[in-house]
Amino acid sequence: PLPRPYTVPLPVPSVLTPAHSSGTTDAYEIIQQTARLRILPGLETTAWTYGGSFPGPTLVSCSGRRTVVRHRNGLPHPTVVHLHGGHTPYGSDGYPTALILPQGGTASHADAMAGMPMSGAAGSRDEAVVERTYTYPMEQRAATLWYHDHRMGFTGPNVWHGLAGFHLVHDDEEEALHLPRGGRDIPLMIADRAFAADGSFRYPALDPAQHTPGVSDPYMDGVLGDVLLVNGAPWPVLETQRLRYRLRLLNASNARRYRLALDPPPPGGGGLVQIGGDGGLLERPLAHDALDIAPAERFDVIVDFSRYRPGTRVRLVNRLGSGSTADVMRFDVSTARPPADDSRIPERLSAIPAPRPERAAATRTFHFQRRAGSAGWTINGSPYEPGSPLATVQLGTTELWRFVTDFHHPVHLHLNHFQVIARNGRSPGPYDAGWKDTVDMHPAESVEIVTRFTDYPGRFLLHCHNLEHEDMAMMADFVAE
Ligand code: C2O
Ligand code: CU
Repeated sequence: PLPRPYTVPLPVPSVLTPAHSSGTTDAYEIIQQTARLRILPGLETTAWTYGGSFPGPTLVSCSGRRTVVRHRNGLPHPTVVHLHGGHTPYGSDGYPTALILPQGGTASHADAMAGMPMSGAAGSRDEAVVERTYTYPMEQRAATLWYHDHRMGFTGPNVWHGLAGFHLVHDDEEEALHLPRGGRDIPLMIADRAFAADGSFRYPALDPAQHTPGVSDPYMDGVLGDVLLVNGAPWPVLETQRLRYRLRLLNASNARRYRLALDPPPPGGGGLVQIGGDGGLLERPLAHDALDIAPAERFDVIVDFSRYRPGTRVRLVNRLGSGSTADVMRFDVSTARPPADDSRIPERLSAIPAPRPERAAATRTFHFQRRAGSAGWTINGSPYEPGSPLATVQLGTTELWRFVTDFHHPVHLHLNHFQVIARNGRSPGPYDAGWKDTVDMHPAESVEIVTRFTDYPGRFLLHCHNLEHEDMAMMADFVAE
């Protein structure tokens, strides 16, 4: 039996305190560990966590201040950490074979390594260590980033079991806008999960011991759950004052897409005022009645609860769901008289340079498709092979990339954010604004993006962020040099 919706308060993940700080750097420590969590009433769920909670602790960085995170792996199997949306040097980007082995590794871990699908790839063993320190220069603008597991072949089960958290970046430009802050700046990690009767996460892994990646055939399109969690709690409730709130929406689901809307909408509509996307602030606010959000995308929105009568119960619903997946969470608007709202939504938020496709040094096309007659997902016909790049780009140059799909694929690029310049030969869609790192693609679409590759040489990834597609090889390396 599923828990009743709207019975638990919304949890907000705690902000991690640096273990030490210097004039230039904040250093953090995270232990990856199993934890027994209370997610469903009366049951315990064993999760794989960053620091004992799901979501993991929120990291908060200031743009330009180096952030160093030491991860130790107390889980029973290898892991990899990727900062999604980070402009990160190769060595800290969480390349899928750059494993963190479990502390006190045993023979079974060596087996797991040996059984890795691409164990022949150079570096997969040498790059494995028992703890790893990731260095993030944070030379990037304010944005809602998130960190999650990226282990070769096992990202799906690892994230499903809890390896995901927020990493927020602030900067002076954003600070000067007087957006809602403090307790009215709330990250919301939306993720569907399925549970067994004993409360454990139910994930249809082909091999729970993680020797062989992938899921069985009925799950080729990705694994879905019937319980919607926000910040790790099923269909929670947030009591709000009649004031503006900044909600940082993240779809951390393995495969589910959502169409989020407020029900009831505020009088006049346009209740979800988007101020930012994956790569930070938009040029101007954009009012939506509904938001389509694919796995890994972020939408930073302001909701003004003063547009509702005191006592209104406002549901955040999913118009692509049915039954238990049609509800997400609820905001209960307080009857108390609010203090004066000191926040604003400025008409102009930021400056975003116009994309310059005419400057592209190269144009490339990437086909995301299921390989006929086999159980694999491919890019340009090839299943992922670490170390066999599909493109080599020159740092400091602009490129135009065209993605073409057969099925729904949220396409994600590491290293640099991009701008969508066309969708099916026409103008970008309503959810394509601003700097993006993930673009929601429908079946049989073509999307053109423009990006400038900058700063860091090395091997980076282009992949589908449907995590089952990713694990079943819909990923490619590109080399920046
Ligand atoms: Cu969010 Cu390559 O991943
Ligand atoms: Cu896909």
